[in-house]
Amino acid sequence: MSIKKVIQHPSQKVLLGNCLQILPNLTDNAAVTFLDPPFNQQKDYASHNDDLPENEYWEMMRLVCSQIFEKTSDGGAVYFMQREKNSEHVLRVLRETGWTFQNLIIWKKMTSAVPGTMRFGKAFQTIVFATKGKRPRVFNRLRINPPLLKHHKYERENGIFVTDVWDDIRELTSGYFAGDEAIRTEKGERFHKQQSPISLLLRIILSSSKVGDFVLDPFAGTGTTAVVAKQLKRNSVSIEIDKENADSIEKRLDSVKKADLIEKYYKDYQFTENLAEIWDKNPLTPANFADQGVNRNLFAL
Ligand SMILES: C[S@@+](CC[C@H](N)C(=O)[O-])C[C@H]1O[C@@H](n2cnc3c(N)ncnc32)[C@H](O)[C@@H]1O
Repeated sequence: MSIKKVIQHPSQKVLLGNCLQILPNLTDNAAVTFLDPPFNQQKDYASHNDDLPENEYWEMMRLVCSQIFEKTSDGGAVYFMQREKNSEHVLRVLRETGWTFQNLIIWKKMTSAVPGTMRFGKAFQTIVFATKGKRPRVFNRLRINPPLLKHHKYERENGIFVTDVWDDIRELTSGYFAGDEAIRTEKGERFHKQQSPISLLLRIILSSSKVGDFVLDPFAGTGTTAVVAKQLKRNSVSIEIDKENADSIEKRLDSVKKADLIEKYYKDYQFTENLAEIWDKNPLTPANFADQGVNRNLFAL
């Protein structure tokens, strides 16, 4: 009886503060965590120094990975996003904190390749998928139906399984490519330069959780994880150190805008065998989104 209640009214918690202080106090165990920290590349963050000495930064990430491991169910997953040049460090800190490597996902960018003068241009970002223990507790084998390539001879009947190369998810770059999904200031500038696309979190949460599970995002930014979790009827905890960002998550969860709705992606996954089970067919709409309020807890910074 109580489980049914959780499924019907998933809770989205937004916690303001430093994840290193908050994570040890979490009471629930996560099914999946999206880990998208600042990359220590001298970006301008209001409440975070993005220019730490390299060893200090990776020591901090090691601690975060260890704390998440403690707060993850057996078989639960982490998706750790980073610049490809840091893959070595990501793999090391995950291994040292007990995680089992599953995939090095290549998220191929659609609109931006950073040119290089002495090396090849950069056109992808890495996401390491790892689990607590050898076997994932949940791994939903999603099927998609990307356009056929020139050398493909036959039409497909029911799509293909998603692989470790994700080239069908558009990043939110600057300018008009970011589209309506990017949160903007009154002046039309992007509110948060690192906002992740809804379709990225949709793939991650769908792959590694069930309806009613708990999804964690320790570096929540604009709350993309929570916005997707809410629509997929998962519970979520978003931790964010910057008050302005945390406020924006709350706002985004309270009244969803059209660009944040996941419904439009349903047909992309239509050939997934258990789709009806993992994606509730009665998605939240702008009209009923606000009814399921946000649970806000404030922590001291
Ligand atoms: C790369 S952004 C995440 C963007 C996010 N995926 C989204 O879709 O908006 C990293 C976020 O972590 C926050 N942050 C930095 N250090 C933190 C800490 N110690 N605890 C919690 N949040 C932190 C930053 O303020 C920033 O908003």
